[in-house]
Amino acid sequence: MNPIAVRPLFSASRLRSVASASSTARSAIRSTRRTLVTPTNPVKATVSNVTSEHVREDPGELEGGESLANEGESGKEMFGFKLNPVATKTGGHAKSAGRPIYLDMQATTPMDPRVLDKMLPYFTEQYGNPHSRTHAYGWEAESAVDEARQEVASLVGASAKDIVFTSGATESNNMIIKGIAKFHQAKRKHIITTQTEHKCVLDSCRWLSTQGFEITYLPVLPNGLISLSDLKAALRPDTSLVSIMAVNNEIGVIQPLKDISDTIKAYAKENGTQKALFHTDAAQAVGKIEIDVEKMGIDAMSISGHKIYGPKGVGAAYVRRRPRVRLEPLIHGGGQERGLRSGTVPAPLVVGLGEACRIANREMAADHKRVTELSERLINGITKEVDHIVRNGDVKGYPGCVNLSFAYVEGESLLMALKDIALSSGSACTSASLEPSYVLRALGAAEDMAHSSLRFGIGRFTTEAEIDLVVERIIGVVTRLREMSPLWEMVQEGIDISKIEWSQ
Ligand SMILES: Cc1ncc(COP(=O)(O)O)c(C=O)c1O
Repeated sequence: MNPIAVRPLFSASRLRSVASASSTARSAIRSTRRTLVTPTNPVKATVSNVTSEHVREDPGELEGGESLANEGESGKEMFGFKLNPVATKTGGHAKSAGRPIYLDMQATTPMDPRVLDKMLPYFTEQYGNPHSRTHAYGWEAESAVDEARQEVASLVGASAKDIVFTSGATESNNMIIKGIAKFHQAKRKHIITTQTEHKCVLDSCRWLSTQGFEITYLPVLPNGLISLSDLKAALRPDTSLVSIMAVNNEIGVIQPLKDISDTIKAYAKENGTQKALFHTDAAQAVGKIEIDVEKMGIDAMSISGHKIYGPKGVGAAYVRRRPRVRLEPLIHGGGQERGLRSGTVPAPLVVGLGEACRIANREMAADHKRVTELSERLINGITKEVDHIVRNGDVKGYPGCVNLSFAYVEGESLLMALKDIALSSGSACTSASLEPSYVLRALGAAEDMAHSSLRFGIGRFTTEAEIDLVVERIIGVVTRLREMSPLWEMVQEGIDISKIEWSQ
């Protein structure tokens, strides 16, 4: 057999040099990993005990004196990020390895260490297949999955039997929207959703429209809420499904779920038609605000693990059994999960989701209070010093999602100047494109304001010190960028730039 030729990427001496120079850094990384798997204090969990000192003090000299860390003007830099001198004092995520302060909780949340602790045995000791019926390994995994199912159900006022485990909210949305549409297609081929849904809902609907379904995309009011009269006007006897998200991932707007389900019921009653089913994508809502599927008249709902301090790659679909919501499964196989989602249930991930839900159930009120305080601290801190800021979306939205547009500042310059803060401009899933956010455009935001928007995502582990540092950085950066802007100069001179007729 011919040996496979392997061409080294670096010379051996260069690799040896990097290896020895960064040994301290590597031992710090090892200790980070270790910290995460040790039992944690269930009352006040912290994500990591490792400080940024290790990385900062040992930048890792490369051959020829080249350094991984470069001295910046006002501090050291690593991999393009300015290491934050305040990071070690802030007590939150910036604490680990001098990385940017994390304020992007709508993209994902860090996993709560208590969740990891609960999951670990199901990887290594209790590794049975929960569908194995003939031995203790299977039984113990099945019992853990049952317990998790109960935790998820309890958080949203459902029965455990109504919960179907999936890989996340994208899959749940696909499964519910396409599955319901397909099941009812013989008689009812109309679906209602909104213009501001997550891409996975919009794209599921777009795909259905290629299959002969008719989709109504409801507009939203300037504050991001739908109009119930628009919904009423859009309902038809052949509407099989209304899919409206609970909390918007870009602007935090909370849609009136109970009023929406009441409107759907009233239409069916008044017109003697079959009631359209009501689905809500609650990926950003479950565990953050009170959701009760019974009280809110929800027929189907999507849940994501990694938005609620649980693991990535797991989620759930609430699919009401009584009265039964009927849908065609997308995945066929062993018939697991009521036949709606075949495939071995990933017990460790599901256990993690269950624990995340249990913690959320217990701590949601306290989390919400803290997040509200931090959110007000952020907004007040910035707006006290900087004017011409627009808050996008309803002010009564979820406080952990604050979307601000900064007039007379170029959006990309803003993000570039704030590399020491992990933020998003618009949805994380679309931030690779420079298109202004479709959600902000649906609110009627001017193109330049949509371009200069930042989303601040605050969560369970965000600290006051982090918020204070972010406030300070935003004030500094926005002031500096405006000083460089000719438009801002004109505004300062009292010129109404909206009245200017620009030539080519
Ligand atoms: C509102 C909303 N729905 C669905 C998703 C997709 O969730 P998942 O990553 O679990 O597939 C997201 C994630 O950004 C979201 O914010």
